[in-house]
Amino acid sequence: MRVFILGGTGTIGTAIVAELVRRNHQVVALSRSEKSDKSLRVAGAVPCRGDMTEPEPWADVASTSDAVVQVAATFGDDMGDVDAKAMNALIEASQTRTEPMGLIYTGGCWLYGETGDEIAVEERPFDPLPAFSWMVNHAQMLLSAVNLRTAVIHPAMVYDMQDGGVFHRFVAAAKVGQRPEIWGSAATRWPLIESADLARAYCDLVERSDLVGHFNVVAEEGVTVSRITTVISEAFGSPEEPIIRSLDDAIAENGDWAKGPTLDQQMSARKLRSALGWQPETTDFAKPISRWIAGLGD
Ligand SMILES: NC(=O)c1ccc[n+]([C@@H]2O[C@H](COP(=O)([O-])OP(=O)(O)OC[C@H]3O[C@@H](n4cnc5c(N)ncnc54)[C@H](OP(=O)(O)O)[C@@H]3O)[C@@H](O)[C@H]2O)c1
Repeated sequence: MRVFILGGTGTIGTAIVAELVRRNHQVVALSRSEKSDKSLRVAGAVPCRGDMTEPEPWADVASTSDAVVQVAATFGDDMGDVDAKAMNALIEASQTRTEPMGLIYTGGCWLYGETGDEIAVEERPFDPLPAFSWMVNHAQMLLSAVNLRTAVIHPAMVYDMQDGGVFHRFVAAAKVGQRPEIWGSAATRWPLIESADLARAYCDLVERSDLVGHFNVVAEEGVTVSRITTVISEAFGSPEEPIIRSLDDAIAENGDWAKGPTLDQQMSARKLRSALGWQPETTDFAKPISRWIAGLGD
């Protein structure tokens, strides 16, 4: 298949490109710099120069593909507006097709808000953080676009063995002998997924454009942040008590998105498992993360 990806150089996108290439798909990836061109070529993809903020040129290219994967985000105040412009251009460009095109759009676990002792499944009403509420509307718009067959993936918190992903802050602190900083409460639970397992879910859905709707992707339904920081500190051989920072402090220092990591969440991928037979290979983050950290000093 010919697959066009937005965000192919990001945490999630890098793993998706690798998996698509491994499955012998032809991958064309939006790229906005020479550095990205280079890393995409090395990964086996063809870069297509462009920016989400100016979608007209690349939206036409994307709409001639068999499928489009959207995992790009600016993470600035303009995040929702930029995504709206890009997705509207894609809908517009897809009008000229005779057959609907597959689209995998990306939401996220934070769209469910705090779940506490309940486990979020796809039927659960969304309760997004204000900074991400636009995602729910965009997903709905794409799901109802006539010439698209849209699957919306909601990844859990994504870690990887490149820079740690969502563990990056804890790893960076432990590496220089600092105490990890937890925002809110150490008892907060995070649903977790390793990036390669997540990438297999994206690729499975790319190959099954008959499957539309919302799909959670998660391997560990809810792991306490205190366990995560303990595993990371111990792997560095420096077990340290975390510093607990209040949510207000974290927001004042980092912006509104800092509320996300303080959400106590659990999430299930039951729907994806039964629809696709998808299974995560990594079901306990501790082993690969400890091995990865042990190798960092080599
Ligand atoms: N990571 C997680 O734990 C997680 C969990 C749930 C949901 N999500 C969602 O998944 C999506 C991707 O997250 P991520 O962690 O993979 O993000 P990321 O690592 O920051 O990657 C962002 C990607 O978007 C691209 N990009 C940024 N601005 C662009 C622009 N103006 N034009 C074109 N491309 C642009 C970046 O390209 P450059 O290389 O050029 O910068 C990069 O490829 C986001 O919507 C996020 O909310 C993430």
